[in-house]
Amino acid sequence: MNSRELLSEQLQGQPFLKNTTNPSVKKLFLESYGCQMNFSDSEIVASILQNEGYSTTAEASHADLILVNTCAIRDNAEQRVRQRLQDYKKIKSQSSKPVLIGVLGCMAERLKKKFLEEEQLVDVVVGPDAYRDLPQLLQQAESGQQAINVMLSREETYADIAPVRLDPNGVSAFISIMRGCDNMCSFCVVPFTRGRERSRDPESIINECRSAYENGYREVTLLGQNVDSYKCINGADTINFSDLLDRLATQLPQLWIRFSTSHPKDMTDAVLKVMAQHHNICKYIHLPVQSGSNSVLQKMNRGYTREWYLNRIQSIKTWMPDCAVSTDIITGFCEESDSDHQQTLDLMKEVGFDYAYMFMYSERPKTLAERKFKDDVSPLVKNQRLQEIISLQRNTSKLQLEKYRNTVQEVLIEGDSKKSASHWMGRNSQNAVVIFPKHSESKGDRVRVKIDASTFTSLFGNRVL
Ligand code: SAH
Ligand code: SF4
Ligand code: F3S
Repeated sequence: MNSRELLSEQLQGQPFLKNTTNPSVKKLFLESYGCQMNFSDSEIVASILQNEGYSTTAEASHADLILVNTCAIRDNAEQRVRQRLQDYKKIKSQSSKPVLIGVLGCMAERLKKKFLEEEQLVDVVVGPDAYRDLPQLLQQAESGQQAINVMLSREETYADIAPVRLDPNGVSAFISIMRGCDNMCSFCVVPFTRGRERSRDPESIINECRSAYENGYREVTLLGQNVDSYKCINGADTINFSDLLDRLATQLPQLWIRFSTSHPKDMTDAVLKVMAQHHNICKYIHLPVQSGSNSVLQKMNRGYTREWYLNRIQSIKTWMPDCAVSTDIITGFCEESDSDHQQTLDLMKEVGFDYAYMFMYSERPKTLAERKFKDDVSPLVKNQRLQEIISLQRNTSKLQLEKYRNTVQEVLIEGDSKKSASHWMGRNSQNAVVIFPKHSESKGDRVRVKIDASTFTSLFGNRVL
């Protein structure tokens, strides 16, 4: 599980409205799996159902409606969801009132009718582009009919729906700027579950960021599967990702801006230049490499070579010597040899990533890789390789964090440290976690912290004025 998945995990079943004592109000339990985009979609769903009079509950057993927003990226993600749905089916059968169970998101899109027919687990199935149809689908399900809408759209961006923020921290907001993906990496299910790429109108993005700031948020993360291909045509005006960043950073100078995910084949120097020009665009890029071997990259259909990737890293360091870089890596992709794996290790050493999200390859139905290549690396070898890259990355992350010792970092306070209520947890521009003792500052403040110590995952220090 990566930290983005962890984030959603921590937020599972999080109430987004006050529990109400009015028994006539219907109660919703909403749980999210997968990436930040899925989490951001749950905020859209929450908004649509709030308008239908739903109030939330953190207890599935109190709910009239249980919704699970699902992820299909790897088989283990799907297995976890299936287990949860079994649990909810049990709750439903034991409840004294009628309960509906709905499955949303990428697994709903992938499995479609199967959920209603074979599995008999759920009453409502809704794909990522059909959430506006939820009220009508729920009515259908209430009257005992099958309720499903998994139509993908070429236009839907939910731009006009003001999300109900589910993240209880109130400091960082996640804002989708585009949907879908046109890339067709051979291992990836996302183009099938999220459909064609489309970008959201820049004004609605800027307005949402402004409204987040006015509501106390101090940081936004712009989300898209490939933010570098953001493109919105407004009459004669074409706005690309660097333009969007520039406008946002200029119009909202007090807001910290992050984004994810950048794609190595599309990340331009224009974006790097805009990042370097604005202090409020955080110096952190998530740039998934997937593999260090050209033959694997080619089979993955990633659209770049190892050399191109290293050139992008060079460019980042030229524009912003202090920029942190994280990555995603898959071990044991089809026909990956020991030498391919070694090249991934070598690339990791050469780049010195600040952080990495690492996964064993999981074959996904209908993908190009499933149709064209053999999933022929044994689970044992996949796992050995994964453990090897995890242990290399752990040491690299530790070394990268040591570099901050004896420096002063600007830190945005996100909330209490998990381990101690007398300490704050925040992040610097480079996304490193910083822990320091509380004094008179508050959550959402940006403060200067002198770093005295570091571990594999965090920095520790004291506030300086
Ligand atoms: N759009 C992003 C990634 C989205 S999915 C990008 O292009 O980089 C997040 C990560 O999950 C991917 O970067 C990849 O490392 C991993 N992933 C995707 N499909 C996978 C699969 N079939 N098996 C294992 N890991 C996978
Ligand atoms: Fe999947 Fe590739 Fe699109 Fe990322 S860019 S979502 S890995 S197809
Ligand atoms: Fe995200 Fe999982 Fe879908 S990673 S886009 S929720 S398949």
